[in-house]
Amino acid sequence: MQGLTLIGSGWHPLLFRAEIQALTGPIEVINPRVLYIPLTDSSLDRLSRAALLDEVLSNSGRYWVNPQASQEDLSQNIANWALKHLPEGSFAVRTRKLGIGIPGFSRSTIDKEVGALVSSESRSVDLESPENVISVVISGPEDGPIHRDEIGQNSPIVVWGLSHMDWHRESYSGRAPTERPFFQPVSLDPRQARLLISLAHRRTAEVETVIDPFCGTGGIAIESALQGIETLASDLDPRMVEGTRENLASFDLEGRVETCDVSEIESLWGIRSDCAFVFDPPYGRSSWSSGKDMELFFEALSAAHRIDPEGTLSTMLPTTPEALQAEPSDDVEVMGMPWSELEAKIIERGWKPVFKAPVRVHSSLARMVVVCHPAD
Ligand SMILES: C[S@@+](CC[C@H](N)C(=O)[O-])C[C@H]1O[C@@H](n2cnc3c(N)ncnc32)[C@H](O)[C@@H]1O
Repeated sequence: MQGLTLIGSGWHPLLFRAEIQALTGPIEVINPRVLYIPLTDSSLDRLSRAALLDEVLSNSGRYWVNPQASQEDLSQNIANWALKHLPEGSFAVRTRKLGIGIPGFSRSTIDKEVGALVSSESRSVDLESPENVISVVISGPEDGPIHRDEIGQNSPIVVWGLSHMDWHRESYSGRAPTERPFFQPVSLDPRQARLLISLAHRRTAEVETVIDPFCGTGGIAIESALQGIETLASDLDPRMVEGTRENLASFDLEGRVETCDVSEIESLWGIRSDCAFVFDPPYGRSSWSSGKDMELFFEALSAAHRIDPEGTLSTMLPTTPEALQAEPSDDVEVMGMPWSELEAKIIERGWKPVFKAPVRVHSSLARMVVVCHPAD
């Protein structure tokens, strides 16, 4: 079956894989940041939602770098592949490395060697505006990974393919929280907002509606509305509501934004289907200990379950920096209590955590991304 090779961002390979799996279904893991998925009618549409996807290659080839491997042999392999898969017309070879690359494999030499081997009367090199791009990725070990990954480092591999012309990496230019008309320090980074939304997808049902009951400055609402998903946002603070409306309007986006306490969102939005509840709840260290923020989070879980018992939920919760180094099975502290306790309370409210991963915010701050499906 025809498939696509996907190259992910080095920021968080584990989350990259989880995101692609949530969006498209089963994945073959070639390397922590290199995946292969079957190509279906909806693959490209679904991949266009991904936050951590850097590149999409079609008709791809692979070359495992074992002791017998050499750069010349690699270039010859790519040239043989090109005879079969490179359409006629102009082309360019663009090689890049992931992590620290692979010793003995140089980007510029591969570009030149493959270019020379492949070019012919019907296929000419054009480095400025080629009709086709052969993208070559030299995937070596990460240079001190930012996030722990249970897969660890696989054997070095070079993958290549035709850079997919119908897929373009999301550009966040102009979308940084500080560039929006209404900004507050709580604003969620657009890439993380988009990631939370895509993690809430399931192969079996399209997300029709994103509901954010703690919308703040609208970080999640903007990313959801940009994808054409119905967006229902609310916040207790009328200044935040006004600010989210202003931010959505500045991108010419539509979305309903209302002032509402989280406990009232069921009467605000009514009973619905195909919803994803995506939010980062309020967190202030002092108020977790008083339990107030914890209650708001639980309130959100219960209200979400009443609105759409078949929906999905994706959130980011405060955790300790130790969680970044912990084993997935360790009982780390999330929202001020051991994960096992919090998980039991989430389940009591009708949701089952199906995925969790810690994310580094800065050296002394981390958040736990948690994705839940209905418990029953
Ligand atoms: C961490 S912020 C959300 C930030 C948001 N994701 C953004 O991108 O700006 C949490 C939000 O919860 C709101 N909030 C606090 N208590 C609430 C309640 N009881 N019901 C609804 N919203 C509440 C706060 O006003 C705040 O805007």
